[in-house]
Amino acid sequence: MATGIPNKNKLNRLDKNSHQIPFRLDYNGKVSIDDILNTIPAKLQPILTVDKLPKNKLIYGDNLRVLRTLLNDVNIAGKVGLIYIDPPYATGASFESRQQNHAYYDLMEGAEYIEFLRQRLILLRELLSDEGSIYVHLDEKMAFPIKIIMDEIFGSKNFRNWITRKKCNPKNYTRRQYGNISDYILFYTKTDNYIWNQPFESWTEVTAKKEYQYIEEETGRRYKKVPIHAPGVRKGATGQPWRGMLPPPGKHWQYTPQILDEMDARGEIYWSSTGNPRRKVYLDNSQGIAVQDIWLDFKDAHNQNIKITGYPTEKNSEMLRRIISASSNAEDLVLDAFAGSGTTVAVAEELGRQWIAIDNSLLAIKTMIHRLAMGTEVMGDFVKSNETKFKQECLININRVLHSGLDLYGEIAPELENISDTMIEEWNSKLNFQANLW
Ligand SMILES: C[S@@+](CC[C@H](N)C(=O)[O-])C[C@H]1O[C@@H](n2cnc3c(N)ncnc32)[C@H](O)[C@@H]1O
Repeated sequence: MATGIPNKNKLNRLDKNSHQIPFRLDYNGKVSIDDILNTIPAKLQPILTVDKLPKNKLIYGDNLRVLRTLLNDVNIAGKVGLIYIDPPYATGASFESRQQNHAYYDLMEGAEYIEFLRQRLILLRELLSDEGSIYVHLDEKMAFPIKIIMDEIFGSKNFRNWITRKKCNPKNYTRRQYGNISDYILFYTKTDNYIWNQPFESWTEVTAKKEYQYIEEETGRRYKKVPIHAPGVRKGATGQPWRGMLPPPGKHWQYTPQILDEMDARGEIYWSSTGNPRRKVYLDNSQGIAVQDIWLDFKDAHNQNIKITGYPTEKNSEMLRRIISASSNAEDLVLDAFAGSGTTVAVAEELGRQWIAIDNSLLAIKTMIHRLAMGTEVMGDFVKSNETKFKQECLININRVLHSGLDLYGEIAPELENISDTMIEEWNSKLNFQANLW
């Protein structure tokens, strides 16, 4: 349906008679759910701790095995309120930081990639609470097959939105096609009883004037006029005449005649010159425009004044602020299993949520520790050496993100890069530095 109002009676008839044939995505190497749930858990070793409550978790390791380990923890399994993941996108590329240090490879493609993500999504669903939500950030390459996989895992009835995000400014494309400036976020919930704090965007002067065209002479309040009737015939009070008028054919009044009288007495009904009543809806009663599924304001770092970590593919913090605020409440547990530079967890920390971050890149772990202890840096500063600035920040650290406690764990696995004792010492002093001031 593009526009128009569906005929409810017809839809009901269709629903009753329809036997929707389920469909799934098949490919070689699709492992059974039981086998995935039987994944061997990661052996996690405590590395360092910041002793404050609540205690968050930063985990260096492969997320499949680590997620399986978390499933054994009764305080986490079925208790995660919100998951945001921004996995590799099957780009076929190797990613480096702004300082040209290796971050991670994104080399899987086709069925191998789909199965990689599917296995993680199956474990993530088990960790999610019944009121929980999951947001999966992808681009046009894999969003379509992963939508089908997510329907299989979470149920198509729990699909909420396909969000289109404007990721960058228009580029001067040399290819013979339209410029690509969007990526996508698939939003699912575990059930239909989920945490939802409706986000609103503020009216701008232009949009407010366009939508609320009238000004009430007596009060100066800006308002719009809306009908006082709605589709459907009613036999009760809302189907009776009001001021000698019946509702138009096939419709009923939105309020009982008694309430309409009260509204009229308060001056909230507008009467046209032909005697047609309409309800006044005031701009100052509006919370703003409910957020829709196209997000234009969350481009990733695009100018030299924006603060970043320097880790590749770092996402926009304000976008995470919107997601975390809409789909979780204070103290809820937020999890990011592809944490990268830690955008999700830094915002979760700022918003008073508890969090778990997992990544198998040592550079990601280093970056997250630096970010939690000292915040982000202006993008322009990455082009010049910032050693002096770094020392100053250690002395008067105004950017510290970490207010709560933290346990850092490392998986014992041969393929992971080693963490040296010097590194642990440095991280320990960074994270515990000034911790007591908060
Ligand atoms: C696109 S980046 C995430 C960026 C992040 N959203 C941010 O704002 O910085 C993807 C991350 O997933 C991590 N990753 C990829 N495969 C992983 C795995 N099997 N286990 C844990 N982390 C993994 C990579 O190391 C990389 O840091």
